[in-house]
Amino acid sequence: YRRLRVALLGAGAVGSQVAGLLLKHRAELADRAGADLELVGIAVRDTSAARDVELPDELFTTDAESLLLGADIVIELMGGIEPARGYILQAINSGADIVTANKALLATHGSEIFDAADQVGASVYYEAAAAGAIPIIRPLRDSLAGDRVNRIMGIVNGTTNYILDRMDTEGADFGDVLKQAQDLGYAEADPTADIEAYDAAQKAAILASLAFHTTVPLDAVYREGITSIDAAMIESARKADMVIKLLAVCERLTANDGEGESISVRVYPALIHRSHPLASVHGANNAVFVEAEAAGPLMFYGAGAGGVQTASAVLGDVVSAARRHVAGGVGVGESTRANLPIVPIGHVTTRY
Ligand code: NDP
Ligand code: HSE
Repeated sequence: YRRLRVALLGAGAVGSQVAGLLLKHRAELADRAGADLELVGIAVRDTSAARDVELPDELFTTDAESLLLGADIVIELMGGIEPARGYILQAINSGADIVTANKALLATHGSEIFDAADQVGASVYYEAAAAGAIPIIRPLRDSLAGDRVNRIMGIVNGTTNYILDRMDTEGADFGDVLKQAQDLGYAEADPTADIEAYDAAQKAAILASLAFHTTVPLDAVYREGITSIDAAMIESARKADMVIKLLAVCERLTANDGEGESISVRVYPALIHRSHPLASVHGANNAVFVEAEAAGPLMFYGAGAGGVQTASAVLGDVVSAARRHVAGGVGVGESTRANLPIVPIGHVTTRY
């Protein structure tokens, strides 16, 4: 097989698992990708830090810029805006394809990154940037590209679902369960992103942009986190046969006269009846319902967070990127971008 040089930025909860699986399944992945995926190095802040997976010391470096030189595929799993943005742009401009799980970056600088990739014929893969292991980016971008998506509704943050679920099922303390979610590798480096729903809003912006073939800026997403949810509220919900879930809703709205369309994207804690399928989403799992004109309702369910689970989505992207290289750089293409007006709506519906 042709050898492709793979550079990894970050070896935390997700990156360490990606590196471990790339090394462990190298032969099998080569058969699947049609290319030998050589992990040439891993850039981190602290080369002596303990890792979740045992990895060869000689792969680690703090010199990300040098590591990127000559890479065919760059996997960005550092998180945050800078220096991730700068490294990704550097990698694109030196001819690499990008795989990233960084929803914070894509929701704020996605257009800049996609435009830079378009200019040099590179591709950016980001299946892990929404709903962890669940395949949802490709279904929206590719499988449903011939349909009209009208609505997406679901749970897209694992940490908050883990917290709300443990509070509901065990009467657990908010702070204690948040700490556990951090220890389990579900939470963002700064968990404020999870509990204040910035992370869910970023994912909603990404999903809505794909679903409605437009660009949804993050500041157009209505956002309300779960920090105000306490034991008394969970108990009140229970008495009404309800459960509280952090929901993301992305909707296409049609004007009353049937002329003109706009979209609404919002994330907020909502009351869900216990008979609703979303009430049965436990732990750090996520579930996303998609309603499309021709396909009708579709449901996606699985692990929404977690290092090894998310590594599955990342490695799928790496195989796709490798196949593209082998095929001579035929791009996957981004959806044509229309510009639908975005309506800043809050709680249209609070009960499901
Ligand atoms: P972690 O915080 O666990 O790991 C981040 C890694 O990046 C660490 O290895 C860190 O190095 C390295 N890093 C951070 N800043 C720098 C820098 N300036 N220079 C070099 N290396 C740096 O993050 P996760 O693995 O949890 O998440 C990675 C990405 O994946 C994020 O974008 C996140 O949003 C996304 N994601 C995470 C999921 C999860 O369940 N955890 C699920 C889906 C997506 P060092 O170890 O030396 O500190
Ligand atoms: N912190 C995120 C979550 C990771 O809990 O959902 C997955 O994107």
